[in-house]
Amino acid sequence: MATRVKPVAPEHLGERAADLFGERFGTVPDGVWIAPGRANLIGEHIDYTGAKTMPFALPYATAVAVRVHSHDRLRVASTAYEDVWEGAVSEVEPGHPNGWPAYVAGVPWAMTYHDTIARMPGLDIAVHSSVPEGAGLSSSAALESAVALAIAELFGAATDDAGRRTLARDCVTAENIVAGAATGGMDQSVALRARQGRVMLLDCSSFAVEYLSLDLAAAGLALLVINTNAPHRLVDGGYALRRSTVERVWSGIGRAAVSEGTDIDEVLRRAAVDDPMLTGALRHVLTEIRRVDAVAALLRAGELAAIGSHLTASHASLRDDLVVSSVELDCAVAAALAAGALGARMIGGGFGGSVLALVRLDHIGLTLESVRRAAHDAGLPEPDFLHATPSGAARRVC
Ligand code: GLA
Repeated sequence: MATRVKPVAPEHLGERAADLFGERFGTVPDGVWIAPGRANLIGEHIDYTGAKTMPFALPYATAVAVRVHSHDRLRVASTAYEDVWEGAVSEVEPGHPNGWPAYVAGVPWAMTYHDTIARMPGLDIAVHSSVPEGAGLSSSAALESAVALAIAELFGAATDDAGRRTLARDCVTAENIVAGAATGGMDQSVALRARQGRVMLLDCSSFAVEYLSLDLAAAGLALLVINTNAPHRLVDGGYALRRSTVERVWSGIGRAAVSEGTDIDEVLRRAAVDDPMLTGALRHVLTEIRRVDAVAALLRAGELAAIGSHLTASHASLRDDLVVSSVELDCAVAAALAAGALGARMIGGGFGGSVLALVRLDHIGLTLESVRRAAHDAGLPEPDFLHATPSGAARRVC
């Protein structure tokens, strides 16, 4: 029987980060903060067009134990890596450091760049995370957001909702400019602004949020995250290429094109794009925007089971029109649906990572077994299954 990965309680994540801090730096941190990974119910690859998406926080999070210094050094340790990364505060810049430390060092750099804080501080940071890396569940945004909230609280920057919106902007800058991943604003917004039991209807042009209830258990349903264990990396070229294709074709169209009642085929005809890649990208954006509206209406009406078909349609669009799926993702979606899931789709940037499936509570075991067996029979990596209960945003845990 395939296994489900249990979330680690936030206080235990925090304790592990604090313990690592003691082991590596020989002292105690000023505090410990956590920020969650995310899933996205619907609205994929459209955040960077300014459209609405519907993410929620997962009960998996990254904890950072942080201590401020007066000296000019950043030192970062992680339970996932042997070595402590160390560098001068003054040397952090676009493209430096490289690799995972960029997601930490980039944050104070961006907060200074945007004047959220006055100066780039010296910091010791120890990281421990239960968000699987490379699973398309925004482990990088969780790390950035935990660091941003820690620095904001330690340096007296605002951390109310408006403050968190600012911090999300800073984290996007860190990821885009220092880490070099051209991501949109969805992941950082959910890590910093999610609410327990709710999905966010996030308007990615104004970053205004409407919180919609998602009481799955009361409806006899569950959302499962299936991590295909086929890694997904946002710094690889695929995501950036799709983003630039979408932006290119979208810049000539705009939001007016999707007002209610507009005929999508007519918009595609008027856009007169003859490259199939551009047509597909445009069709994905136009139809995904409609699906977000449809799912929001169903959630407001309390018709949770009816959202399933929109999830599956979103997957078909990401696979066939935007072409960002993979063999592993398609296999997991097909196997979940074959086992009776009400809907399933890949989530996140694509090319690997995770699937979200809407299943009846009494079908969970069957779904896990069907997905695991299909991966095995196709010679693909064994998937992991994660709980997808909408959880809370970044916060201090000790
Ligand atoms: C990644 C990016 C997000 C978003 C999704 C696709 O997670 O970080 O900004 O573009 O892909 O919806």
